Amino acid sequence: MPMARIQFNYPLISHNTFGMDVKAKVFCEYNDEEDLRQLLLSEVFAPYAENFIVIGAGSNLLFLKDYEGLVLHSCMKNLAVLDETEDEVLVQVGSGYVWDDFVEWSVSRELYGAENLSAIPGEVGASAVQNIGAYGAEVSQLIEKVEAMDLQGDLRCFSREECCYGYRDSIFKGDLKGQYIITYVTFRLKKNPVWKLDYGNLRAEVENAGEVTGETVREAVCTIRHSKLPDPEVLGNAGSFFKNPVIEREQYEHIRDVYPSIPCYPVDERTVKVPAGWLIEQCGWKGRRWGNAAVHEKQALVLVNLGGATGREIMDLAERIAADVQKTFGIEITPEVNYIL
Ligand code: EPU
Repeated sequence: MPMARIQFNYPLISHNTFGMDVKAKVFCEYNDEEDLRQLLLSEVFAPYAENFIVIGAGSNLLFLKDYEGLVLHSCMKNLAVLDETEDEVLVQVGSGYVWDDFVEWSVSRELYGAENLSAIPGEVGASAVQNIGAYGAEVSQLIEKVEAMDLQGDLRCFSREECCYGYRDSIFKGDLKGQYIITYVTFRLKKNPVWKLDYGNLRAEVENAGEVTGETVREAVCTIRHSKLPDPEVLGNAGSFFKNPVIEREQYEHIRDVYPSIPCYPVDERTVKVPAGWLIEQCGWKGRRWGNAAVHEKQALVLVNLGGATGREIMDLAERIAADVQKTFGIEITPEVNYIL
């Protein structure tokens, strides 16, 4: 039998930030690569090889009902400095390490690159699947390599290029979905900072604190996030519910003729990204309640569980919002959150 902890009909309420009170048929936690290998090759896993999910902190998931499959959770929390030069440090971090603890670790050692990604809920393995991003930074910019195990227990190392990173996207969500389980992520951190302060009011918030340091950038990011995004301990949510849509510049200009205040971020010569939160607010959904679900009053991109909401209720709200945005602007918005059936 594998050494991993295996539990049946396991409650997931403390493993998903939406606070869905659902159960997993099987729930397994592993501490190291050998544990994981034995589990994958065991009779426990065999019936679920096409019916399993890997979760981190469950901060980007919406369970629609009890999960009839097997849930895997990494407890690999080790961190090791692999190499150090005059300018850089390579740090290998276990997939179960809490993301923000890693940011704190790097900031406190005056290692730079992760500070803009402060206070994002979740764990290191999921950060590399989801390509988490905020305030002008994306985790893919720091990733050197990703180590992962296939379902036969063989290890493979992916370079950053092989991970095919895009906006909230990677090969682990696409072509290789369900085929690899991340064990370690290695980050390249800088000893000399290159500050990115041009997003929104970040610069002003940092300057409030005086000197620009890793600590003050981290604090400013935390302050901005806490002012807009609800604490999942208080109000269940999964951060941004939708991705920001990318549209043709021509379509953007047509909309701007009618709504001169529409914000945008350039993507390339042909396209721009438009904030879904703005579109949703214009459609009148900000702060609106739908049964036990609601659109957050301070950030329309976030859907919240007011208490006792079901996954279906939240999905229903999301579908109504998306339909309204489509009708009003002719823009399709798609969930960033993964629905688990
Ligand atoms: N806006 C509105 N109304 C709203 C929300 C936003 O008009 O209710 C406008 C804002 O005024 C601003 C623009 O939309 O002009 C952008 O808003 P914000 O800076 O809050 O960022 P966002 O585009 O809504 C994205 C990420 C967040 C990340 C922030 C900061 C996505 C899907 N979301 O949100 O990521 O923290 O930028 O970088 O890309 C997450 O992924 O869970 C997440 C929180």
